[in-house]
Amino acid sequence: MKLGAETGGMQRLVLGLSGALFTVVVLLQLTAGAQDKPNTPISLPIDTVTLPDGYRDWKLISVAHEAGKNNDIRAILGNEIAVKAFRDGKRPFPEGTVIARLAWQYQSSPRNDAVFSAPQSFVAGPPTNVQLSVKDSKHFAASGGWGYGQFEGGRPNRDPALLQTCFACHAKLESRADFVFTHYSP
Ligand code: HEC
Repeated sequence: MKLGAETGGMQRLVLGLSGALFTVVVLLQLTAGAQDKPNTPISLPIDTVTLPDGYRDWKLISVAHEAGKNNDIRAILGNEIAVKAFRDGKRPFPEGTVIARLAWQYQSSPRNDAVFSAPQSFVAGPPTNVQLSVKDSKHFAASGGWGYGQFEGGRPNRDPALLQTCFACHAKLESRADFVFTHYSP
């Protein structure tokens, strides 16, 4: 009898242990599952950024050239609020700031090169796209207070996959930059 009671106790112990082990395994699998899931995209109000009238006449903040796949030349323009903030070095940017990044294909110019002794002239070719960053902290709270838009031939590109990339990349900057790469070129 004594032996039987001991065996029963042992069985309960083994059962209890395997139950606990099962729970641990299930929990581990759940956690692993959650980690494997791709980052759930944050929902951004991406369809509300429009191309403002007259943006082409805005003041110049700086220029940039991207080589590689883009191979373009770019101008960064800003509305009055943006230009003042850039010149004053004000961060974070005030509400109503709009920054426009215009880009054109980066092309060598044989016509210009003809006046030089060696090829050296590169110019803006056809436009590629215009990108906008719009500061509206309430509306775009989910993306650091910035709304993003891309326009091709004046028409908005509403592809959510494209627009998800904007904040994700701009957010890699140090926080005092307020998600803006460009510096004012005097
Ligand atoms: C992989 C990183 C990356 C992605 C994705 C990206 N940007 Fe940028 N963006 C940059 C960099 C770097 C600059 C500055 C230099 C340049 O243009 O190469 C810039 C500059 C800008 C500027 C000029 C103001 C500033 O922040 O310097 C605007 C406006 C802008 N991007 C909007 C957008 C929009 C809209 C999208 C999405 C459609 C987007 N960007 C996607 C990296 C990125």
